[in-house]
Amino acid sequence: EQGERSRLIEAHRAAAEFYVERLSSPEAATGRRFLSERGFERADAEHFGVGYAPAEWEALARHLMARGFTAAELVKGGLAKEGRRGPIDRFRNRLVWPIRDITGDVIGFGARKLNDAEDGPKYLNTPESPLYKKSEVLYGVDLAKREISKRSQAVIVEGYTDVMACHLSGVPTAVATCGTAFGQEHIKVLRRLLLDQSGSHGEVIFTFDGDAAGQKAALRAFADEQKFVTQTFVAVQGDGLDPCDLRVTRGEAAVRDLIASREPLFAFAIRSVISRHDVSTNEGRLSALDAAAPIVAGIKDRALRQLYAVDLDRWLGFNNERFVVDRIAEI
Ligand code: CTP
Ligand code: MN
Ligand code: MN
Ligand code: MN
Ligand code: MN
Repeated sequence: EQGERSRLIEAHRAAAEFYVERLSSPEAATGRRFLSERGFERADAEHFGVGYAPAEWEALARHLMARGFTAAELVKGGLAKEGRRGPIDRFRNRLVWPIRDITGDVIGFGARKLNDAEDGPKYLNTPESPLYKKSEVLYGVDLAKREISKRSQAVIVEGYTDVMACHLSGVPTAVATCGTAFGQEHIKVLRRLLLDQSGSHGEVIFTFDGDAAGQKAALRAFADEQKFVTQTFVAVQGDGLDPCDLRVTRGEAAVRDLIASREPLFAFAIRSVISRHDVSTNEGRLSALDAAAPIVAGIKDRALRQLYAVDLDRWLGFNNERFVVDRIAEI
């Protein structure tokens, strides 16, 4: 067991080195251009270990097998797939980000397509393996863990490039889930870090592209985590730019400002609902109230629920707390 694990970690270390080397090859020009258009310099790519998986069927497999790794090991680790005549590389003609566990060992890869015309999803990740458990993987946690504990803050972004952009912009607490929704296992990993030094629960700040799917995911993630929910914040860029695009178009201060502009989860959720209604009429305000009421009613902490009822009344301009509280109670 332990033997298998360390063999797979060795294979991933060698694979990461292989991909990094290939990023300098002539055929990786598209990949290098992608990085540079995203505002990443060579040193940034090196710091995060970004590499390139060549557009060949068995470049990595051959490289690793020449170094003594077996086809079975490559398949088990998710680096290759079983082919008719031997293992076939899983990642081809893609930029690859090494995904490390909290101790810094490479346990998998995230890989982005460079040619839109090619088959397959935009991002491809390592499948479940003895090393890689997607429900608990947080990209960047090896780099962020110290600052997460020190600042008692973790920033959850959507993508690999967003983690890079945050760290380079002075938000070194950023991590990303890898092709999966943020869930209970991720919470466990973060909570350990947040509790470590400060003794408080700290802040978990979610950022999204602004699409409704991402927002819903955050609301769900903490819905039944009562102790944690008051430490949950949301930071969304008005025009839906992700941190990577924000850094390119508006600069690094804008990324820091985005994080600083975070709102408590419930305030964000209620305001989002209100913003979808026309509150200039009684009809619109009433339907906004009825849409927001379940959120307030769902706040399990009684004092917090009362405070948000007061806010809701103010935000809707009723100036009639009794009315709002009664309406919420009817839910
Ligand atoms: N993702 C994924 N599979 C996809 C699309 C997205 O796993 N088919 C994950 C990736 O981790 C990705 C994140 O969701 O980084 C955010 O998705 P999106 O906003 O579409 O990706 P960006 O990283 O912003 O994409 P781009 O490289 O185009 O900026
Ligand atoms: Mn910089
Ligand atoms: Mn998105
Ligand atoms: Mn994005
Ligand atoms: Mn992006």
